[in-house]
Amino acid sequence: MKSHAINDYISCVYANVRTDELFEGMWPVPRGITLNSYVVRGEKTALIDPLSGWGGGAGRAMEAAGCPKADYLVLNHIEPDHSGRLGEFRALNPAAKIVSTEKGLALVKSFHKIDGGLVAVKDGDELDLGGGRSLAFFEAPNLHWPETMVAWEGASGTLFSCDAFGSYGATGDRIFDDQFDEGEHALFEEESLRYYANIVSPFSAFVERAIGKLSALGVKCVAPGHGIVWRRDPGRIISRYAKYASWAGGGAEKEIAVIWGSMYGNTKAGLDAVARGIERGGARFTAHRVPDDGLSHALAAAYRSSGIVIAMPTYEYGMFPPMAHALDMFRRKHIFGKKALRVGSRGWVGGAKKEYEAAVEPLKWDSLDSVEWAGFPGAGDLALLEERGAELARRVMES
Ligand code: FEO
Repeated sequence: MKSHAINDYISCVYANVRTDELFEGMWPVPRGITLNSYVVRGEKTALIDPLSGWGGGAGRAMEAAGCPKADYLVLNHIEPDHSGRLGEFRALNPAAKIVSTEKGLALVKSFHKIDGGLVAVKDGDELDLGGGRSLAFFEAPNLHWPETMVAWEGASGTLFSCDAFGSYGATGDRIFDDQFDEGEHALFEEESLRYYANIVSPFSAFVERAIGKLSALGVKCVAPGHGIVWRRDPGRIISRYAKYASWAGGGAEKEIAVIWGSMYGNTKAGLDAVARGIERGGARFTAHRVPDDGLSHALAAAYRSSGIVIAMPTYEYGMFPPMAHALDMFRRKHIFGKKALRVGSRGWVGGAKKEYEAAVEPLKWDSLDSVEWAGFPGAGDLALLEERGAELARRVMES
């Protein structure tokens, strides 16, 4: 656990988590993830968003910041990566008040079985820490859970935004945006998109609403719960999130995400022809195999891209099961409005078509005629597949 001063009365206490364990039990973090907590000192001290068990907990966060005790614990969001060791905090700080929205405190009671010393705050409420320091609170529902709020320290212009403006990727010994070079920022940009597509994408309308609501504050420093603290250029991460939110209807990048699975190589052979067509049509593409590659990167690519190819064989008269799971996740994560092409091999009969069409109906994809063939694709199949790939690429490039 490390601590860096943001100024002479605010510290960021953070833990770099590097683990094979999946974030939320689903998402790989091969570059790790950083959990951030903040200590704000006036005459009284507030700890904002204590760390989870992964980060060592609230007690150690206070220790790392050089503060033996907190008078307030501000909970912007109750998901356990931020609130995981509330019991430990309460044991170490029995007199401290826990501050959150009314919905947040309901979760404190139900999740953590704590029902004393709770202070509910509403939009615009302020907490006076004495010595000219105070925190204001703004409700930010569904960023990422319904109870979420953000905290604001107006004198320094610091926004404690919790999940919003966060990212995967461990920051190591550094935490501020001005401490990373552009190559490192490019990696964090990839990781912020993947984080967004995995965690935040269903709530894009709320992201836009929150950005609009907070824009009048004059933010000078974005201090999120995960990843880089943006003190040199807070607008960079805010505009990045605004861009991601604007992609919710279909993705703005002229590229194609190819999501594919193959049992014996027959679907793969047809997909190779589609790929030749995409290249001929002048579009870039990324390929993600299911189940082998998992869905985390596939979601990021699909969210970003305006085109999508789904390639899978028929399996037991229905969809290849890993693709059925992928499409269900695409619905949950709002992979909407794509220009789409489905291709795949079958054995005795087809069957994927009916199940596929039902699965993508809520996604509102604009689909080309799909291509199915028996067993290995013949010369005619390959020519048709290449042509469909080229047609998809043309549509994506013209959009
Ligand atoms: Fe980082 Fe929704 O918790």
